[in-house]
Amino acid sequence: MLTIRKLTFDEAEAVTCFIEKQLATIKEGFFFPPNSSIVSKALNADTGISFGAYDGKELIGVRLTYIPGLDKDNHGYDLGYSLDELLLVAQFHGTLVKDDNRYKGIGHELVKTNCDEIFTTKFKIILVTVHPQNDVSIRLFQKNGFITKKLVNKYSNLPRLIFERRKSE
Ligand SMILES: CC(C)(COP(=O)(O)OP(=O)(O)OC[C@H]1O[C@@H](n2cnc3c(N)ncnc32)[C@H](O)[C@@H]1OP(=O)(O)O)[C@@H](O)C(=O)NCCC(=O)NCCS
Repeated sequence: MLTIRKLTFDEAEAVTCFIEKQLATIKEGFFFPPNSSIVSKALNADTGISFGAYDGKELIGVRLTYIPGLDKDNHGYDLGYSLDELLLVAQFHGTLVKDDNRYKGIGHELVKTNCDEIFTTKFKIILVTVHPQNDVSIRLFQKNGFITKKLVNKYSNLPRLIFERRKSE
C-alpha cells in the first residue's frame, strides 16, 4: 500500500542510499544529486519540509525541500527577489521516484502533499529547477501550479529552468 509521510532526520542514510541507487536509472543531466549538507537541511524539522513515498516499509520516492534563507544557492537571487521575498522561499532539491514505480502518479502525490504542507507555514514561495528537456518533470510541476520563470546554468553549468509557485492569497 502506498503511503506518503514526512521524512525525518534519522532517515538521512536511507534517503542517500535510495538516491545513489537510482542515479543509474536517470538520463544524464536530468537530476543533480543533493549533497549531504542539503540532505541534512531538508530532513531537519527546523530547516526543511520533506516527504517520502513508501510501499509498505520500502522507500520508493522522495521529495526534498530545504529553506535556503539568504544562502547564495537561493534561486530567488536569479529572479531578482527582494530581501523579504528571499526569506519566504522553500526550495525543492530532489524529486525522485523509484524506476519501476514511475508514471503512476506518485511524483504528483509527493509534490502536491509537499506544496500543501509548505503553504501551512510562513514560507509562501516554492522554487525548483528542472532540466529543459525533462518533459515528465516539467509536466509534473506545471500540473502543480508552477510557472516557468527563467533559463539559467546551475550545478556545474547544466541548463536549468527555474519554476516558481506562490501561495495564492
Ligand atoms: C520526474 C519524476 C519524479 C515524476 O514522478 P512520476 O511518479 O514518474 O510522475 P507522475 O506519474 O506523477 O506523472 C507526471 C506526469 O508525466 C506524465 N508522463 C507519464 N509518462 C510519461 C512519459 N513516458 N513521458 C512523458 N510524460 C509522461 C504523466 O502522464 C503525468 O502527467 P499527467 O498527470 O498530466 O498525465 C519521476 O519520473 C522520476 O523520478 N524521474 C527521474 C528523476 C527526475 O528526473 N527527477 C526530477 C528532477 S527535477
